[in-house]
Amino acid sequence: MTPDQPAARQPDHPVDPQFPARWSPRSFTGRELAETEVMALLEAARWAPSASNQQPWRLVWARRGEAEFAVMRDALTGNNPVWAGRAGALVVVASKDTVPTREGAEVANRTAGFDTGAAWMSLALQARAMGLFAHAMGGFDRDGLAAAVALPRGHTIHCVVAVGEQGPADALPEDLRARETPSARKPVAEIAMHGRF
Ligand SMILES: Cc1cc2nc3c(=O)[nH]c(=O)nc-3n(C[C@H](O)[C@H](O)[C@H](O)COP(=O)(O)O)c2cc1C
Repeated sequence: MTPDQPAARQPDHPVDPQFPARWSPRSFTGRELAETEVMALLEAARWAPSASNQQPWRLVWARRGEAEFAVMRDALTGNNPVWAGRAGALVVVASKDTVPTREGAEVANRTAGFDTGAAWMSLALQARAMGLFAHAMGGFDRDGLAAAVALPRGHTIHCVVAVGEQGPADALPEDLRARETPSARKPVAEIAMHGRF
């Protein structure tokens, strides 16, 4: 057992502790992130790998206290605006849908979502390395958020990431408090096959 790690988060095989140590809490202290902290998170995302090094990810950020933060928060749906409003920053994770051909035409980038997923994970792991937590949200009003961030044509929003300093679970509304615990995972044998499905 790794100390400080709940049973649900114990790996089946030896792994770098940064992986099970990353999780998605909802309680944030409300401390606004410094711009230097946001830049460190974006820098981590920047170094993600991508097909043909196209770097399709596009990240729109705002720090708590800025007007843009409130606009992003208001485009979240369900419970998300309640807890994410206490994050130190919000990052809208989008991607450019196309890549240029040698002839200058734009064709669909089939790996844009895959590559952008790698960038978000880099950001999340950098957050943990800085003593912060990142929590992705797919629950947002697609049109409302696109308008809020002036999403250009040919781009897709994948999620909004709340980043900040973790707060106490008992600061959350009761329904969310009960869910404020790191989740388990399927065993490796269920998600990985030797040789073929
Ligand atoms: C693309 C994506 C969308 C998500 N959407 C939401 C969301 O709208 N609201 C929420 O509270 N959590 C959301 N989550 C968080 C997941 O529920 C969480 O990552 C998952 O349960 C695994 O838990 P962990 O991140 O703590 O390991 C989302 C995560 C991802 C990657």
